[in-house]
Amino acid sequence: MSEILLQIDGKEVKAQEGMTILEAARSAGIFIPTLCYHEELEPFGGCRLCIVELESRGSTRLVVSCVYLAEKNLVVRTRSEKIDRIRKMILELLLAHAPDSFVLEDLAKEYGADRNRFGKEPSFCIHCGLCVRYCAEVAKKSAIGFVDRGIHKEISFIPEIAARECMSCRKCFPLCPTEALQAAYVLTMGLTAP
Ligand code: FES
Repeated sequence: MSEILLQIDGKEVKAQEGMTILEAARSAGIFIPTLCYHEELEPFGGCRLCIVELESRGSTRLVVSCVYLAEKNLVVRTRSEKIDRIRKMILELLLAHAPDSFVLEDLAKEYGADRNRFGKEPSFCIHCGLCVRYCAEVAKKSAIGFVDRGIHKEISFIPEIAARECMSCRKCFPLCPTEALQAAYVLTMGLTAP
């Protein structure tokens, strides 16, 4: 694999071809916030929190850093007024669904997001898909999935599989940025209890 050089936040960064911008930034100790990224999972690009700006010939464009591949001579900015404004909006929308999430609360402080900007619609799940993808891709159990679509979309354990597999695994629990996963599990197990 060949090495490429790019610039992130004014710093020259060495990356391997095939790395995403997020991976290149992390390898250089540059922080980009994420909610749906996990190094063991296929890129998902769902939450959009990891957006960055690419500069080229005086203009800029936004890309999702966890899916966009690093390229030779790219000039990347991980913070700007525009990026911060978008991250703030994303966080405000997510806080309407998961107002008690510590992860979101910390990020909200960083980006000055107002937790009360949008009316509360607590569903607790923010659809990052970490649990669903981890269970399918790494644990290979597929004990949890998404049900429904659009604003009604939510996670749900598949009772027959969960009853057999989850008690001894639970590796997805620490990945959840809200309390939704544990709540869904407890509910499922409660419903399947004899
Ligand atoms: S971390 Fe990149 S879109 Fe969620």
